[in-house]
Amino acid sequence: MTDLRHHGDVDARPGLEDFAVNVRGSAPPAWLREHLVDALDRIGTYPSTEDDRAARRAVAARHGRGADEVLVLAGAAEGFALLPALGPAKAALVHPSFTEPEVALRQAGVPVHHVMLDAADGYALRPELVPGDADLVVLGNPTNPTSVLHPAATIRELVRDGRTLVVDEAFMDAVPGEPETLTGERLPGLLVLRSLTKTWALPGLRAGYALGDPDLLGRLAAHRPHWPVGTLVLAAVEACASPIAVAAAGAAATETARHRANLAQALAGLPGVEVHQPAAGPFLLLRVREGERVREGLRRRGIAVRRGDTFPGLTADHLRVAVRDAARTALLVAALRSELTTEVST
Ligand SMILES: Cc1ncc(COP(=O)(O)O)c(C=O)c1O
Repeated sequence: MTDLRHHGDVDARPGLEDFAVNVRGSAPPAWLREHLVDALDRIGTYPSTEDDRAARRAVAARHGRGADEVLVLAGAAEGFALLPALGPAKAALVHPSFTEPEVALRQAGVPVHHVMLDAADGYALRPELVPGDADLVVLGNPTNPTSVLHPAATIRELVRDGRTLVVDEAFMDAVPGEPETLTGERLPGLLVLRSLTKTWALPGLRAGYALGDPDLLGRLAAHRPHWPVGTLVLAAVEACASPIAVAAAGAAATETARHRANLAQALAGLPGVEVHQPAAGPFLLLRVREGERVREGLRRRGIAVRRGDTFPGLTADHLRVAVRDAARTALLVAALRSELTTEVST
């Protein structure tokens, strides 16, 4: 049985050059850190409704929505954990994909159906594969780990009466211009999840949000505790939705796309490495012969990559690597080349 709870942070042991975790950089930028430090002055009181409203208003302005269409979350992961509150009878999960939604739903006893996309057609989303009676559908866009960006038009085909359609856009802010985002759309049952974790290097804070119809958000949040997110989370969500922050994220996305193209080109020049393309996320999915041996070899050379076999539909020959700057890319490519050459000469 696949270990659905496996995450890249398990692969990234201390001391290794980390290509396993998809967080950009190792700490939030100075302006955001200062903003969080300032917010510490407000943790002597309970999180205020003013801070919550300010965060929701900022997010609403960023995505062209109303503040009542925003729910601030303790990371996108909390959004998955809340899905059982909707009482789904049958969940269709589009794979290969991030497994946390599946863990949350299975733990709550929700019947789960895998919609398996096919590498042969580039893991294209095929709405006809989603069972008509699924009242909950979950997919990632762009998808972790394939880095595939599905067209918004194809995702829209999945909207049905009585169905909640969850689009996990945790990595969408890493896509320049976010061409396929559904954040601005009011479609029945659509729930879009966003994360601050990756772009702003905030995995330890737990900050994200959901966008959707106010009734849907209300049902989702029905059993949350009082003060479900802290003052620092609200401060971060407000700050990261500001026009300056959004512009900075856009510039970072453009830079990431450049680094990704360099990485893909360098990897494609190695013997026996297939790079899944086109790719839109801040990571690439690779297929390498004897992937497990190669991953272990890379680790001995000081490099951590994310194993692929814990994603439904992938194998031990699949590895996911985070996009990094040119210097770190060179380290990965050199180590992989040595590892593959060792294989040939032994
Ligand atoms: C595709 C995807 N969605 C959601 C999450 C969770 O994001 P957050 O840190 O906001 O909970 C992750 C984290 O790895 C992810 O890879």
